[in-house]
Amino acid sequence: MLNLDITKVAPFVSKETINGYADSIAEAQNALEAGTCPGNDYLGWLHLPSSISPEFLAEVKNAAATLRAECEAVVVAGIGGSYLGAKAVIEALSNSFQWLLADGKNPVILFAGNNIGEDYLYELTSYLKGKKFGVINISKSGTTTETALAFRLLKKQCEEQMGKETARKVIVAITDAKRGAARTCADKEGYKSFVIPDNVGGRFSVLTPVGLLPIAVAGFDIDALVKGAQDMEAQTAASKPFAENPAAIYAATRYALYASGKKIEILANYQPKLHFIAEWWKQLFGESEGKDKKGVYPASVDLTTDLHSMGQWIQDGERSIFETVISVLKPNHSLLFPSDEENLDGLNFLAGKRVDEVNKMAELGTQLAHVDGGVPNIRITIDCLDAYHLGQLIYFFERACGLHCQLLGVNAFNQPGVEAYKKNMFALLGKPGYEAETEAIKQRLNK
Ligand code: PA5
Repeated sequence: MLNLDITKVAPFVSKETINGYADSIAEAQNALEAGTCPGNDYLGWLHLPSSISPEFLAEVKNAAATLRAECEAVVVAGIGGSYLGAKAVIEALSNSFQWLLADGKNPVILFAGNNIGEDYLYELTSYLKGKKFGVINISKSGTTTETALAFRLLKKQCEEQMGKETARKVIVAITDAKRGAARTCADKEGYKSFVIPDNVGGRFSVLTPVGLLPIAVAGFDIDALVKGAQDMEAQTAASKPFAENPAAIYAATRYALYASGKKIEILANYQPKLHFIAEWWKQLFGESEGKDKKGVYPASVDLTTDLHSMGQWIQDGERSIFETVISVLKPNHSLLFPSDEENLDGLNFLAGKRVDEVNKMAELGTQLAHVDGGVPNIRITIDCLDAYHLGQLIYFFERACGLHCQLLGVNAFNQPGVEAYKKNMFALLGKPGYEAETEAIKQRLNK
């Protein structure tokens, strides 16, 4: 089970202060349930896990089986919420050296449409040359430039290499039911498609086909992922008392720390495979709460790696941060340190110990040092890194985010700030309809 420990926050913000937010959390829970909070058109994620049926999961697994049977590689095209959840879960569950293993049992999963790097796209399309590959085109709006650009290239290459008929079998669209270019294209070409529910926003969509299909194509257990999320949905329900609800406690603790001047949260992990879980988490919290000139800034570190870079700052820099550690209790494999007769490195005191024992002592030592250095510490523990516990973690963070945004008084479910760069980019590229903006930018740049 997922466990939350906030005892190392006490030297900075008292338990009473945190418990003092219990009523506000209850109000926030009720507003989520009653659909009266800001952005209430986008509350489909709230009871999404418990609404997923075995029939729906079977349909996703069926589509995944087709891609697995037909393709050596599958490219997932998407950005933001249409990419990070799948990437996070696949990375967390995959062998760290999957690239080198390439045992032919699973298609290689690649990601595109999340950047506009010409070299990236050139190298991707070069890698795909001569390969049997498929594409999962994911875009809720169906019009996101990064994704559309990559999809145009990949569609053309897929059709040229595999023929139009086969391409139709191995291109899948995940998009809006009716609107957007991705929907129009899927309907015209007759692609298998899945719908992203209207009331589920991108960054809350990992448990829709947006995340589930790529994860299933990669060969992972989506039933267990959903079960984990369902169990966490029950554990964080509005009916649960504050003291028994980890998402409520996490949200209240974050808010108490933010109110006390800790404006930056660092999500730390001690398993390199969790790197993209932190990227997903940053998007979830950053895009949900960073508005109206408010919001905790979500940052992340991979430890112990980053103790040799950001460790100095965390220990000794400006005291505006708090740290949340994701700790995995049991590794999936066992490896013992060998003894060495010469002991030239002086490490014989570790002989016979598991590598994870050393990692855990590094984790504990770091936590104590950071607390001593003035960094409040929250610890989230999961039993092991598997689909079930990732499902728990995902829903736990989603629920906590929905609650925390209400404490902050922001609409968790919009992202008006994202439009600013798009407007300028389209104006600079001369997109039809942006003539006035193009003129304004020209004048600004010529000043
Ligand atoms: O969370 C969000 O809503 C965003 O990050 C979107 O997921 C992202 O902008 C991609 O949008 P779309 O799926 O419409 O291409």
